[in-house]
Amino acid sequence: MKTSTVSLSLSILISLLSISWATSAHIHENFLQCLSHQVPNSNSFSKVIYTPHNSSYASVLQSYIQNLRFARPITPKPLVIVTPLEEAHIQASIYCAKEHGMNFRVRSGGHDYEGLSYVSYDVPFVIVDLVNFQSITIDVENSTAWVQAGVTIGQLYYRIAEKSKTLGFSAGVCPTVGVGGHFSGGGYGMMSRKYGIAADNIIDARVMDVNGRIHDRKSMGEDLFWAIRGGGGASFGVILSWHIKLVPVPQIVTVFTVNRTLEQNATKLVHRWQSVANKVDDNLLIRLFLRRVNSTTQDGRRTIEASFVSLFLGGVDTLLPLMQESFPELGLVREDCIEMSWIESILYFAGFQGNPLEVLLDRNSSVTDIYFKGKSDYAVDPISEDGLNQIWKEFIAAPVETFEFLFSPFGGRISAISETETPFPHRSGTLCNLHYSLVWVEKGSSAFNRHMTWIRRFYSFMAPFVSMSPRSAYLNYRDLDLGVNNKGNTSYAQASVWGLKYFGINFERLARVKTMVDPGNFFKNEQSIPVL
Ligand SMILES: Cc1cc2nc3c(=O)[nH]c(=O)nc-3n(C[C@H](O)[C@H](O)[C@H](O)COP(=O)(O)OP(=O)(O)OC[C@H]3O[C@@H](n4cnc5c(N)ncnc54)[C@H](O)[C@@H]3O)c2cc1C
Ligand SMILES: *[C@@H]1O[C@H](CO)[C@@H](O)[C@H](O)[C@H]1NC(C)=O
Ligand SMILES: *[C@@H]1O[C@H](CO)[C@@H](O)[C@H](O)[C@H]1NC(C)=O
Ligand SMILES: *[C@@H]1O[C@H](CO)[C@@H](O)[C@H](O)[C@H]1NC(C)=O
Ligand SMILES: *[C@@H]1O[C@H](CO)[C@@H](O)[C@H](O)[C@H]1NC(C)=O
Ligand SMILES: *[C@@H]1O[C@H](CO)[C@@H](O)[C@H](O)[C@H]1NC(C)=O
Ligand SMILES: *[C@@H]1O[C@H](CO)[C@@H](O)[C@H](O)[C@H]1NC(C)=O
Ligand SMILES: *[C@@H]1O[C@H](CO)[C@@H](O)[C@H](O)[C@H]1NC(C)=O
Repeated sequence: MKTSTVSLSLSILISLLSISWATSAHIHENFLQCLSHQVPNSNSFSKVIYTPHNSSYASVLQSYIQNLRFARPITPKPLVIVTPLEEAHIQASIYCAKEHGMNFRVRSGGHDYEGLSYVSYDVPFVIVDLVNFQSITIDVENSTAWVQAGVTIGQLYYRIAEKSKTLGFSAGVCPTVGVGGHFSGGGYGMMSRKYGIAADNIIDARVMDVNGRIHDRKSMGEDLFWAIRGGGGASFGVILSWHIKLVPVPQIVTVFTVNRTLEQNATKLVHRWQSVANKVDDNLLIRLFLRRVNSTTQDGRRTIEASFVSLFLGGVDTLLPLMQESFPELGLVREDCIEMSWIESILYFAGFQGNPLEVLLDRNSSVTDIYFKGKSDYAVDPISEDGLNQIWKEFIAAPVETFEFLFSPFGGRISAISETETPFPHRSGTLCNLHYSLVWVEKGSSAFNRHMTWIRRFYSFMAPFVSMSPRSAYLNYRDLDLGVNNKGNTSYAQASVWGLKYFGINFERLARVKTMVDPGNFFKNEQSIPVL
């Protein structure tokens, strides 16, 4: 009796082992067969299916990898990449991934901070890359547009400006960011004090669900439509396109950048900025970058440079008196200011000033060989001058070269919207978002560990200065240090650790929507919304 139990379980164990040994190859074959059955007689479909046997697999995989952290040999690679040409190709990919136990990733612009649109630590997996979903239809008369999910915000801005000099859209700064991830995760940019985030300006969407059915706002219902405007698209389905409300922009806007080092009173200015930036006129957004530089006046000693990078929706003659009244300490003068069109300001903030506008259409203009780790916080109370001095000390002593600390002001429209209107909860009472960005180029694990360790340590050091209970974070600056799902078996309580940071009181409703639209948890990743 006993012996037979043992031998039985041994044989189960052996067969389990051999299953897992052969699984990958089988799943792979079966998955490909399934795809061809789902879309029969389609030559075009096979031309957009890439496996490691296709010579173009590596270049398609890497085309939008923004971060060398996720292009290392140990990074898990997809068994298959599909670049669908039509909706039926996405339907087939969902159906077959479900049938054959493949994990599923959707990629739009590929800017995810943790690479979750093209890396899954739960293998095997398939990537559906929406690079061919690039249509943009602008309706100037109604100030609206339909934008397919594979579009980048640079392409969108360019097409809007092509049609109208007085319309724009409120979204992020880097032109190669994709609307699929960016809009579904929020979308902060230089007009967010005037018009809120991208998600606040979405009026309809087309979404494919876990059964391959396509919904618009009406047929998906207000719960799902709510969830995809800040809760991240990846937990709920595949967003095919957005219907957005364009916003008015003046024919002339004014930009300025003013730099001040510690020797030029940067500490006082940064301190003062905290009581100005979220209260000043909504037409003005002053972003604050902090960098470590070699002082030019102090024998090359290290100092901090505060860079006040700003957009004013109006002309310089209105801006100067406004600054004189609200932030005279900065000492802004006419010579610091440049008047230009809104679309030229997009180039200015992206660091492409002087290039033709067409650089906005280049989807790989920002792809460079760098390692990057980002983290985020929100400040609710101003940091005291003493606190700032402690931060500078830590920053100046950092054993890393290219760290940048960015403060993005709230207030205005972004803070006037209620906390529960969308899943993005950082509204009234938020002073600014803090963004930690560490870049390095040195290869190898010792550089890797040194940089990752330092940014984590600096983040711990910042705890007393930022929001607490929860210590909030911005979904679009995704950070797996905050916690990860355990291969699809994560309890609501476990996921709450990071869920409350990103979504605050909206986390529970997101989990309810998730349970309703994807009870089998097919659309999952390391930080997807759990089923209740
Ligand atoms: C250089 C750089 C600059 C940035 N600047 C800003 C900024 O100014 N303001 C700001 O708010 N954020 C900014 N971000 C963050 C950016 O908003 C997020 O990384 C965003 O999620 C990127 O969207 P994506 O489509 O490019 O990324 P992807 O990596 O393609 O997708 C991100 C996530 O969304 C999911 N997803 C993508 N498309 C779909 C879809 N169609 N349906 C369902 N799920 C989908 C992916 O699976 C993944 O989970 C920046 C990021 C980088 C790297
Ligand atoms: C990849 O290879 C397969 C098998 O040779 C072929 O059918 C398919 O069209 C190739 N895919 C691409 C994108 O060329
Ligand atoms: C961008 O990438 C595409 C595809 O990988 C490539 O064909 C193109 O030449 C690249 N463009 C630039 C400007 O590098
Ligand atoms: C503007 O919207 C209305 C109502 O949705 C629609 O009937 C009209 O055709 C739209 N205008 C244009 C130019 O498409
Ligand atoms: C401000 O500093 C940044 C980075 O050090 C530099 O690129 C920029 O040219 C400076 N701008 C002005 C107006 O001094
Ligand atoms: C710094 O501030 C002091 C007084 O607050 C002022 O006298 C001085 O001119 C300022 N320095 C610079 C470089 O602006
Ligand atoms: C600052 O000086 C250090 C050493 O003196 C040097 O290694 C570093 O490259 C300098 N940084 C910049 C931005 O010039
Ligand atoms: C999932 O987690 C629960 C609670 O942590 C545990 O009881 C269960 O066995 C786990 N299931 C699997 C399949 O790992």
